[in-house]
Amino acid sequence: MSPITARAAVLRQSGAARPYADSRPLSLETVTLDPPGLGEVLVAIKAAGLCHSDLSVINGDRPRPLPMALGHEAAGVVEALGDGVNDLAVGDHVAMVFMPSCGHCAPCAEGRPALCEPGAAANGRGELLSGRRRIFREGEPLNHHLGCSAFAERAVVSRRSLVKIDPALSFEEAALFGCAVLTGVGAVVNTAGVRAGQSVVVVGLGGVGLASVLGALACGASPVVAVDLSEDKLALARTLGPVHTVNAADPDAVDQVRALTNGGVDVAIEMAGSVRALEAAWKMTRRGGLTVTAGLPPPDAALPVNVVSLVGEERTLKGSYIGTCVPSRDIPRYVALYRQGRLPVDRLMSGTIALDDINTGFDRLHAGEVVRLVVTF
Ligand SMILES: NC(=O)c1ccc[n+]([C@@H]2O[C@H](COP(=O)([O-])OP(=O)(O)OC[C@H]3O[C@@H](n4cnc5c(N)ncnc54)[C@H](O)[C@@H]3O)[C@@H](O)[C@H]2O)c1
Ligand SMILES: [Zn+2]
Ligand SMILES: [Zn+2]
Repeated sequence: MSPITARAAVLRQSGAARPYADSRPLSLETVTLDPPGLGEVLVAIKAAGLCHSDLSVINGDRPRPLPMALGHEAAGVVEALGDGVNDLAVGDHVAMVFMPSCGHCAPCAEGRPALCEPGAAANGRGELLSGRRRIFREGEPLNHHLGCSAFAERAVVSRRSLVKIDPALSFEEAALFGCAVLTGVGAVVNTAGVRAGQSVVVVGLGGVGLASVLGALACGASPVVAVDLSEDKLALARTLGPVHTVNAADPDAVDQVRALTNGGVDVAIEMAGSVRALEAAWKMTRRGGLTVTAGLPPPDAALPVNVVSLVGEERTLKGSYIGTCVPSRDIPRYVALYRQGRLPVDRLMSGTIALDDINTGFDRLHAGEVVRLVVTF
C-alpha cells in the first residue's frame, strides 16, 4: 500500500509576532499518515473552521505539546476504516468532535462524554485515544490537536472523535457543528437548561457566543441581550432575532443589562475567554442567577468571587465544556433545528479560505473581523 500523505498546517513554535501573514507560525507541510489502527478512521477533510481555541495555541495562551498539526472543528468523508470499526462505512459524512469519549470511564458512564478522562489525557499529550501518534514529517511524529488535527487534507482519528452526519448538509456548515454549535448551543440548552421566558445575556460574540444567542432564541428566552466590544458583532447579533445589544466598553454596560432585564438576567453566558468578561457576566445576573462560562483564558486565570454574594443570593457559577453535550445525540438534534430554520447557524459563516491562506485567516480572527472562516479542501 502506498503511503498516505496530506498537506497539513503545523505549529512548531507558539507566540510568533503578528501579523501572522508575515511570521507564518503555521507552516504548510506534506505529512505522512499511518493507516488507521484498531478503532480508528481515515477521514478526507472537506472543511475546517478557525476557532479561537486554535488561535490560543498559536499565540501561546493555551500551551500544547509542539510540534502539533492544528485544527479541531471539521467535517469530511470516511476514506478508510481501521479494524473494529463496524458502524461507519467508506463514503459516510462525518463531523469531528474535539474530545474523544472512551465510553467506559466514570464521566462517560454518567453520560458526560465531554469530560472523558482518557480522552482528556490523550488530548493533553497530543495523542489519539489509542495512545498513538499517526502523523509524521520525515519520520518525526507530530502531535494531534484535540484528537483531530483537521487543518489538513486527511486525518487519522479515533472513531470516538466522529459523529456521522446528514450528507445533505454542506461540509462548511457541518464543520461548525463540531465546535461552535455544540459549545454555544449546548451551553444554553444543556449546561444552563434555559427555559422559555427566561432572560439571557451572552458576553462575547464570536462563533461560539453567537451560537449561544441562536440557542437562546431557539429556546424562547426573553429578553436576549448580546454583549461585545465590537460594534460589528453587535450589529450582526441584532439581525439574528429580537436581541438587545450592549457594548462591553461602556462604563455602565452591567447597569444597562440589568436595566434591560428587570434588575438582572436569569442566565449569563460568558463566551469571550477573558476574566473581565466573566466578571461582567457574573454581575449581570439577578439574585439566584446562573453564570455559565465556556471561554478559555490562559491557564493561570482566576476569578475572585464574593462568597457572601454567592451564598446569600444563591448564585451559581458553572463551567461548560463542549456545551455539556453528548455529541452523538446533540449534533443530529441541532442539525434538525438548523434544517427547520430554527437555528440558522449559517449566519455565523464569514467565508471560506484556502489552506495556504490560513495564517492570514488567524490575523482576521484575532482582529475580530470575522466570525467563522472555514478552510475548504
Ligand atoms: N468550552 C469549550 O468547550 C470551548 C469550545 C470552543 C471555544 N471555546 C472558547 O470560547 C471562547 C470564544 O471562542 P470563539 O471562537 O467564539 O472566539 P472569537 O475570538 O471568535 O470571539 C470572541 C469574542 O469575544 C469578544 N470579547 C473579547 N473580550 C470581551 C469582553 N471583555 N467583553 C465582551 N466581549 C469580549 C471579542 O470581541 C470577540 O467578538 C474562546 O476563549 C475559546 O477558546 C471554548
Ligand atoms: Zn473550537
Ligand atoms: Zn471516557
